[in-house]
Parts: sequence; structure tokens; C-alpha cells
Amino acid sequence: NNEKLIKVTFNKANGDKITAEGKKGDSLLDVIINNNLDFDGYGACEGTLTCSTCHVILDPKDYDALPEKPSDEELDMLDLAYNLTDTSRLGCQIILEEKLDGLEVKVPATVNDARQLGKMFQTI
Ligand code: FES
Repeated sequence: NNEKLIKVTFNKANGDKITAEGKKGDSLLDVIINNNLDFDGYGACEGTLTCSTCHVILDPKDYDALPEKPSDEELDMLDLAYNLTDTSRLGCQIILEEKLDGLEVKVPATVNDARQLGKMFQTI
């Protein structure tokens, strides 16, 4: 099949830039999992909106361009994310589509697993 792959770049806090590809309909979390990207602790709840470890930070223009606005559930979970910003989203809720090709997101240095609040700040 000739489905177009959509490129995403993850900028890690340590300066690493990791570019990977996903398909339309994949979440950013799917891209990380499907490409075996090594982000320790990322996506701990496997996209069930109960962890906030999949926190990413977008450029304001990309944030505004995303087709889906965050749901209340996502916003509640984001409140628990480490280093929350005005343009933060959860990676498991960002769904790729062709116009997002070339998207770059920042992955914060630390993930917070809301299921273990206060216990686990993990460096990724
Ligand atoms: Fe847990 Fe996204 S992977 S909220």
C-alpha cells in the first residue's frame, strides 16, 4: 500500500532529536511504540488517559493547528503532568493526519505517572 507516512520529530530535553514516522490515525504514542523509541516511562498507561507520562509540548502554531482540542479528561490528566505549559498535550491523544507531517514536539525531561503521584518522577 502506498499510504503516505507522516514524519514526527521528538526533541528530548537532553538535546536529542529523534525523527520517526507514523501512519494516519496513529497517535504520537503509537509512533513511539511502533518504532521502539527508547523513552523510558513514556506512555505508561498505554493511552488510557490515566497517567500523563505521554506529555509533549508543542509550538503554539502547531497546538492551534491540531484538529482535535483536548477533551476534559485529557485536561484533567495534563494538570498532573510535570512542567505543564499552555501548549501541552498528551501524546496518546494526538492523532496523526497528513497535514501534521513534519510536526516537532518537545518531550519534557521528566515524566510523572499520575497513578503513582508524588512517588515517581522519572528521567527519560
Ligand atoms: Fe497515559 Fe497518555 S499514555 S495518558
